[in-house]
Amino acid sequence: MTNKQIYLQDKYASRAQREGFKARSAYKLLELQEKFNLILPGQTVVDLGCAPGSWLQVSLQLVGSEGKVIGIDKTKINLTANNLVFYQLDLIKDSDKIISTLPPAHIILSDLAPSTSGIAVVDNAKSLKLAQTAWNIARKLLLPQGNFVCKVFSSKESDDFFKLLKPYFASLSKFKPKASRKSSKEYYIVGQNLKQRQKTTS
Ligand SMILES: C[S@@+](CC[C@H](N)C(=O)[O-])C[C@H]1O[C@@H](n2cnc3c(N)ncnc32)[C@H](O)[C@@H]1O
Repeated sequence: MTNKQIYLQDKYASRAQREGFKARSAYKLLELQEKFNLILPGQTVVDLGCAPGSWLQVSLQLVGSEGKVIGIDKTKINLTANNLVFYQLDLIKDSDKIISTLPPAHIILSDLAPSTSGIAVVDNAKSLKLAQTAWNIARKLLLPQGNFVCKVFSSKESDDFFKLLKPYFASLSKFKPKASRKSSKEYYIVGQNLKQRQKTTS
């Protein structure tokens, strides 16, 4: 890693500490919001893979007191707010329960990341499985005109996943925030304005 990269990482981490965010990832969602204007006051946001909670913090700020934020992770979080609900669940094992429990949402976010092995082909496959699971949940819960954000690791398979999503949204983009480490193969797929909500029976 170059000195410049270390400096940039520190910049986001220390800024997160200073500004009271649980993680430097907060700035990724803030960049996504600035670019795509995804989350509006009063809306319902579902955040899949939300721990430690910086995307929840940003979402709570954006939806305001009239909005609602729902977070899911297999790891507990240490964050509370009147309009925040957290479920400690496994997205893959509990996806049916999640679909039947959660309300329809205007925005579904997935910053889900697997524990990585360092073997690209294994890590890409695990990441893609999480992204596909997030989409299976999103296509059942997302309201018409809703927005979907999903982290993937760049690969031929993630390109295929991108193509699969294309018909569902009025606009589909790839975005790598500046706050995302240059060395990471992650980027975000951003689907805006869902054309039609899928039926809840699969
Ligand atoms: C990069 S972190 C998310 C950071 C979060 N966006 C934030 O800003 O604080 C990825 C999360 O995905 C969660 N995760 C990975 N696999 C999961 C699964 N099968 N079910 C639920 N959560 C999972 C991890 O526990 C981890 O908290």
